[in-house]
Amino acid sequence: MKYKINIINKCEKKFLLIKKIWNLKNDNNSKFSLIIKPNRIELKNNSLSSQKNIWVNFNYKNYQKYKKDKKIKIIKAIKIKKNKFINIIDATAGLGKDAFIFFSYGCKVTMIERHPILSILLFDGLKRGYKDKKIGHLIKKNINIIYNTSMNINQLNIPKPDVIYLDPMFQKKKNNALSKKEIRTIQNLVKYDLNTNLLFQKCFLFCKNKVVVKRPKNEKTISKKKPNYNIKTKKYRFDIYLK
Ligand SMILES: C[S@@+](CC[C@H](N)C(=O)[O-])C[C@H]1O[C@@H](n2cnc3c(N)ncnc32)[C@H](O)[C@@H]1O
Repeated sequence: MKYKINIINKCEKKFLLIKKIWNLKNDNNSKFSLIIKPNRIELKNNSLSSQKNIWVNFNYKNYQKYKKDKKIKIIKAIKIKKNKFINIIDATAGLGKDAFIFFSYGCKVTMIERHPILSILLFDGLKRGYKDKKIGHLIKKNINIIYNTSMNINQLNIPKPDVIYLDPMFQKKKNNALSKKEIRTIQNLVKYDLNTNLLFQKCFLFCKNKVVVKRPKNEKTISKKKPNYNIKTKKYRFDIYLK
């Protein structure tokens, strides 16, 4: 099935490539616009006209910030004792913010995103990241993106990772890695994720060491299985399930 969105095409070459891979159809009445510019691809929420457009940025400034901050709780949550350079799958990649933190910390990251528009933004962000003079070579080597559902995680022909990270979109409002404007737009675009329990089970079977699930602080766990432990921040909680 074709995904309908208002396409604003300012770069024919990129547009043809995207159309071929993602099977998009132009819809002038869509609540969202995909703006294909020569230098980057942006998402516009047409119903929030005051809002700035959204795009993915894997840049050196953020890399330096995260690299220095090794104590942040998300890093504590994914950490495996004595092993800094772990393989991690971010099975709900979104805009790749958490994935970029893992990369900055030294992980090899595979992002999986099932939403066509978000995966286009991620592909575009990665392509621009490759050109970064300081970290482009690291991005090329250590981050990749798969456009698929993580429900197929065991059929994607990828090696089993040390850790799988899950941050699904929940029905209730929550604070996560995305800023407020981004959350609103992504919530409208993706709605909320169903079947997260099944997704968790598949990921738990597939990983080598652990699954880390990000949840709003006072929400129920993603599955009936009890986490081995959790790490709390002011607004959310990382539930850690060890194999
Ligand atoms: C809350 S956002 C993740 C934000 C992300 N942690 C970040 O830092 O940008 C949840 C994302 O998970 C994606 N998602 C949910 N279920 C998925 C699945 N089964 N496979 C792949 N992606 C999925 C949604 O499309 C959405 O983009």
